[in-house]
Amino acid sequence: MIIRQLAKEELNKVQSIAHRTWPSTFANILSPEQIEYMLNWMYDLRMLESQLEKGHTFLLAEENGKELGFAGFELNYSEGPKAKLHKIYLLPEAQGKGVGKALILEVADRAKKANQKSLLLNVNKYNQKAIDFYLKMGFQEIYKEVIDIGNGYVMDDVVMELDL
Ligand SMILES: CC(C)(COP(=O)(O)OP(=O)(O)OC[C@H]1O[C@@H](n2cnc3c(N)ncnc32)[C@H](O)[C@@H]1OP(=O)(O)O)[C@@H](O)C(=O)NCCC(=O)NCCS
Repeated sequence: MIIRQLAKEELNKVQSIAHRTWPSTFANILSPEQIEYMLNWMYDLRMLESQLEKGHTFLLAEENGKELGFAGFELNYSEGPKAKLHKIYLLPEAQGKGVGKALILEVADRAKKANQKSLLLNVNKYNQKAIDFYLKMGFQEIYKEVIDIGNGYVMDDVVMELDL
């Protein structure tokens, strides 16, 4: 398994993995309509490209040329300075095999080398599997927040932080 940084031309891989991962991840958490709304908005190629242009990094985990999952993060997201893990999704068949841990360690390593004091993330408060994974990785819950994302939808999140 290797982890490599994606260029603009390959952001369709991020989009494709998200579309293959979200339905099972959020089946019991969000309505199909909200999943569709969020995927179309957050994983629109122009949105991913503009995130790359403003400094987000997208890392792809792959094995024998087959993609397994990705992580997206941003340095200097807030004062501290603190980095933010914006996204991490592994294809269903690639989960539970240590790939998520390898991606988190890579993001944490890059953030630490860039003098970031901690790594922040938001996770849906009902996504207990992901919360348990983050706790295992050493993150702590710092607060909860509800974010209005339009169309009558909200993101009902827990904010977690890993000291670096
Ligand atoms: C959450 C996710 C990124 C975790 O990655 P993963 O590759 O499945 O997890 P790993 O196999 O690397 O697990 C790393 C460690 O966490 C533990 N762990 C993983 N999931 C766990 C869970 N649900 N409960 C308790 N421990 C868990 C593993 O046992 C492992 O422990 P070890 O280091 O002692 O062996 C991945 O499963 C995923 O993409 N899930 C669906 C999408 C999602 O929810 N993304 C997060 C959105 S905020």
